This record gives sequence, structure tokens and C-alpha cells, in this order.
Amino acid sequence: MKIVIAKNYRNMSRLAADQVIEQIKTKPSSVLGLPTGHTPVELYHDLVLAYQQEIIRFKKIVTFNLDEYAGLESDDKRSYHTYMKTNLFNKIDIQSKNIHILDGATKNIKRECVRFESEISRAGGIDLLILGIGMDDHIGFNEPGSDFKSRTRLVKLAETTREANSKYFGSLKRTPTAALTVGIGTIMGAKKIILLADGKKKAEAIARAVNGKIDKAVPASILQKHPDCTFILDKGAAAKLKS
Ligand code: PGA
Repeated sequence: MKIVIAKNYRNMSRLAADQVIEQIKTKPSSVLGLPTGHTPVELYHDLVLAYQQEIIRFKKIVTFNLDEYAGLESDDKRSYHTYMKTNLFNKIDIQSKNIHILDGATKNIKRECVRFESEISRAGGIDLLILGIGMDDHIGFNEPGSDFKSRTRLVKLAETTREANSKYFGSLKRTPTAALTVGIGTIMGAKKIILLADGKKKAEAIARAVNGKIDKAVPASILQKHPDCTFILDKGAAAKLKS
């Protein structure tokens, strides 16, 4: 894997945006895999700016989001559907038929997960997948112990993940206990991967993923085996890397 260390969060976001812009310019019908959470907010901001400045268009872009909370309706203000609309989709010219986000409120989870996987295949696979990382090394919502070959499925959220995300739900008690997520096998199938992390609180997770052994207890460690994976980190997140 390739490691790029940016001087701060702003710079990390800019470097990631440059890569996404390049991908879209090279292939205007690219299939993108997209994350949510705090980390990609400024990346999305930069992509919106690039669209407004007519540097890129999203008309032919196809997107697949990594995950969604189980039990949340898509119009819930805390859902990842809402997050994506607010931060990106409502501000660009993407066609709604090209947006794919798991339905967390589905009555038939199995069918929803199978549908998602087959839509990824039908789109020709993911060209560029952007990832964040959890403090417990999760990617998507693949928590420690997830099978490296796993596909899209329902998962139980780790307590550390629920605690980290409880700020969006007002309390830990109100934070969902489960989510639908693409699997690690799904992630590893992407042609190119960029993982973003900022802040000292991610430093341990990054060091385990990059310098540790490949182990199911450290989901992100499998990225060491991906043929085209770049970690773009700020100095805080890179602080515990062995040189
Ligand atoms: P964050 O989440 O961007 O809000 O830190 C990342 C993740 O949990 O994958």
C-alpha cells in the first residue's frame, strides 16, 4: 500500500479530492464507492466546488455507499441517505437512478443485501472506493472478526463504534446497534482504494493496519494485500507509523 502524509485535515481532503477528480476526468462514467462520517465531509465539499467550477460533471457517475444503519428510514435526518444528500448529492448533477444506498429499514434484509451486491456487479464493479477507518480498524461497518471474504450483510456494531457515533443520536441508548454494510470481500473487489484518516485518535488504528500483521481482528489490515490502495493521512493519524 502507498502512504501519503498530508500536513492537516484540509490538505488530506484536497489530495483525496484531486484523486477523485482525476478518476472522473479519466472515466466520466466511473463507479465510485463512498463513505460517510466526519472524515469525508471536506472531500465532498471540494468535489461540490469542482462541480460548480465546471471541472467535473457527475451525470454519468454511479455511486454505491458503504453502509447504512439498520432500522433507520432513508428520510431520517441521521441516516446516511440524508448525510449523502446534504453533503454531496443535492449539490451536484448526479442522476438519482445512479445512486445506490442500502435500505436500512428494509423488511427483507437478505434480499436487500443480495440486490446491492448484484447491482455492484451489474455496474461492472467499483472503480474507485473511498474509505474511512474506525478506531477499532473497521472499514465500512466491518467490525473486528469480520471474514475477509464477507459480502454485504447485516452486522452488529461494536460498542466503541456506537460510542463514537452516539454524538449523532443524542445518547448511546438511542444509537443503533446494527447496520447493513458491504463486506470486506466487496471492498477488496474495488479496482482502486483510497483510505482517509485524520487526527491522533486514529493513529493506533492506522499503525495496526499498516505495520501489523494481517489479521481478522484488524479488518483494515487486509488492505495490505490490495494491489492499488493508498492511505492519505494527516500528521496526527500518521503519528504512530513505523518508518
Ligand atoms: P469518522 O468514521 O469519519 O466519523 O471518524 C469513520 C468510520 O467509522 O469508518
